[in-house]
Amino acid sequence: MKTLFLDNNEPNIRTAGKILRDGGLVAIPTETVYGLAANALDGAAVARIFAAKGRPMDNPLIVHIQDLSELDSLVAYVPQAVYDLAGRFWPGPLTIILPKSDLIPDEVSAGLDTVAIRMPSHPAARAVIRAAGVPLAAPSANTSGKPSPTTAAHVRDDMDGKIDAILDGGPCEVGVESTVLTLCAPVPRILRPGRVTPEELEEVLGEVDIDPAVLGQLGAGEVAASPGMKYKHYAPNADVFIVESSLEAFRSFVNQQDPQTTAALVFSGEEEGLRCTVLPFGDEGNELAHANKLFADLRECDTRGMKNVYVRCPSSEGVGLAVMNRLLRAAEFRVLTLEEDA
Ligand code: TXA
Ligand code: MG
Repeated sequence: MKTLFLDNNEPNIRTAGKILRDGGLVAIPTETVYGLAANALDGAAVARIFAAKGRPMDNPLIVHIQDLSELDSLVAYVPQAVYDLAGRFWPGPLTIILPKSDLIPDEVSAGLDTVAIRMPSHPAARAVIRAAGVPLAAPSANTSGKPSPTTAAHVRDDMDGKIDAILDGGPCEVGVESTVLTLCAPVPRILRPGRVTPEELEEVLGEVDIDPAVLGQLGAGEVAASPGMKYKHYAPNADVFIVESSLEAFRSFVNQQDPQTTAALVFSGEEEGLRCTVLPFGDEGNELAHANKLFADLRECDTRGMKNVYVRCPSSEGVGLAVMNRLLRAAEFRVLTLEEDA
């Protein structure tokens, strides 16, 4: 299949809308990461998403809308909490899980009786949903398991020849996927952290739980509340290690590795004195910057043929919880703790 590369303009948005109405796949920019969109009401179109990504069929998709009026027909009922959350966070990087209506095909919900709904804020995403005239199912537009794409070039690396079109809306502002919150639990529960933090959700909802799988590893036989959390995820080809240590210990450890195949992800300003490939991912304590750069840096490590990536352990405060959640999975939960004289 020949993949069309579309600049972000009015005629191209109409083209994208038509492709989607006709059952095709279009990668679209959102404020979080690029999404791989199909008509959410067309099970056959949605099935093509799973094929293009190599995604396990038991991992459900998020349905994207651009106006609250679209919600009613997609869900069994709308609890008041949705209006409270929408008032503060929609359009924006929050996904809400609700009991689904019969309109949602099994391909979208992966056989669950719930559906994930999000109203993105990116103007191009909103315009494409309007042009398509249908809600859009869209997972991140990466090959399953790889870091999510935050630029159109990342999408092309994974999807060229596999989908109908890529709409280039420039780099994504947030850089990690939306916060996934389920309202189908006794207490609202965060299944995946994102730009909207637990503290912000508590301001609207009062009590909010964080699923243990956010920073933990599922034990054998445990069932994931969010199926996406059980897969190896966000990982480049290189082996990633989170390193807990002083900067001194980090430097001397990394400098003992093969400089040709080793990359270090460090806080901005720490680049000096390292003999390997060095990628800064923002100032220490600037969680928004880390979120913005993490996936791009991990992909860059693959482009440069790195075998091992050592990452200075970032803070998991606020949006840092989302960064740590992605990083732990990219690292397959490998955390190295170095003594001072390592
Ligand atoms: O920011 C985002 O959310 C991006 C952009 C494109 O909107 N999308 C995205 O989709 O990250 P995806 O498919 O990569 O991640 C969706 C996550 C998965 O972990 C999936 O298991 C979970 O949401 N999910 C979807 N529907 C669910 C449901 N009904 N119950 C529990 N988890 C669900
Ligand atoms: Mg994804």
